[in-house]
Amino acid sequence: MKLAIVGSGHVGLVSGACFAEKGYEVLCIDNDKKKIATLKKGVIPFYEPGINELVLTNRRKGRLKFSTSIKEGIDNSEIIFIAVGTPLGEDGSADLSYIENVSYEIAKYLKDYRVIVEKSTVPVKTGERIKTLISKYAPGKEFDVVSNPEFLQEGKAIQTTLFPDRIVVGVETKRAEGVMRKLYAPFKAPLIITNLVSAELIKHASNSFLALKISYVNALARICELSGADITQVAYGIGLDKRIGPDFLKAGIGYGGYCLPKDVAAFAHISEQLGYNFNLLKEIQKINVTQRDWFVKKVEKELWVVKGKKIGVWGLSFKADTDDTRESPAVEICQRLLELGAHIQVYDPQVHKLQLSDAKHQIKFCRTPYEAAKGVHCLLLVTEWNEFKQADFKRLKKIMLHPTIIDGRNMFDSTMLQRLGFTYRSVGRN
Ligand code: UGA
Repeated sequence: MKLAIVGSGHVGLVSGACFAEKGYEVLCIDNDKKKIATLKKGVIPFYEPGINELVLTNRRKGRLKFSTSIKEGIDNSEIIFIAVGTPLGEDGSADLSYIENVSYEIAKYLKDYRVIVEKSTVPVKTGERIKTLISKYAPGKEFDVVSNPEFLQEGKAIQTTLFPDRIVVGVETKRAEGVMRKLYAPFKAPLIITNLVSAELIKHASNSFLALKISYVNALARICELSGADITQVAYGIGLDKRIGPDFLKAGIGYGGYCLPKDVAAFAHISEQLGYNFNLLKEIQKINVTQRDWFVKKVEKELWVVKGKKIGVWGLSFKADTDDTRESPAVEICQRLLELGAHIQVYDPQVHKLQLSDAKHQIKFCRTPYEAAKGVHCLLLVTEWNEFKQADFKRLKKIMLHPTIIDGRNMFDSTMLQRLGFTYRSVGRN
């Protein structure tokens, strides 16, 4: 079976490489000529554990190819995936212009029956719009539109694509269902067949539910601090209930990344358009935004006057095992502290540069965690990279101006740090 994937970002490239790994012939397409040229040289434009090897192996076997031509993909492939970005529009809606462009291009070159799969995260009813557009510009041509949302997690993208918890496929015809069943036959995961809108809704509902769990535990963390409880114990205590589950109950500095913030906003927006005011989603967002303020206030409380203080920061990506800084709470915290007049020196294992919007306020990048901690009034842990767990705290204490650590991810052992003479603050743990 031959597949084409339009959009070679995190989702498109990882999906393409994983399908190739399963034995399919995959053409990954992107209109960014530079990106395709780079990929053809075997260079991956982002950090994701294992992706380099997977791409290399499958290219060598001739199963994974790259192109800038949508026509080439449509001429030769049975299934065309749309995996382009759906960024956040100004009003909170998903900006679907890339999806619309690709749909138009597909219509332009469509000849024989093709299954067109939306892989990008889209608001419910987008599939219908794609179908209408293609029918309009390719009248009389045979095709089906399918919704097949992806649930990959950055940092674990290959594992979560090759071994997903479930595969969701929204179809309108038996013919399309047959093609999709054949495609996913080599995957060992429950396959859920729904109609188009249900599949679209499952994606937004899943991401929003994950965000709900995180905001819930972050709100609990604040109550823990006010009452003297410990959020790690509370989260453990509730997570052992099988109906609740232990995942996504880690309190911290709020959720970030390209997906959760934008999807919760887009879901709230489309719900309102459909006629339902989904206030719960707005509360999730509110808790998330104020979680960062709360963390900055912790820093202010420790330092008193932030202006002129040197602050070391460990981590910048929105979570560990990725170099992605989009909507990263760590970046936002740095930005706020810079605005308050702090000098920020950062170490992140994978992020080595970042242009902040305000050219006046920039952060200094360091090559080691110790360089970032040198001479600082306090050190912030904002991304939970494993490397930080192995830190030599005795060495750290000697190089910091004052041994204060504020841990936004509850990564460190407070008893051990206090015994070593650190002032240690974390989230929801007294
Ligand atoms: C998320 C979903 O988890 C994927 O299932 C989905 O496919 C993807 O979005 C998408 O829509 O493409 P991802 O954005 O890679 O995946 O990141 P997550 O692992 O979900 O983490 C999101 C944020 O929540 C991070 O900032 C993380 O640090 C934070 N988080 C996560 C917490 O603060 N606490 C937790 O317990 C878990």
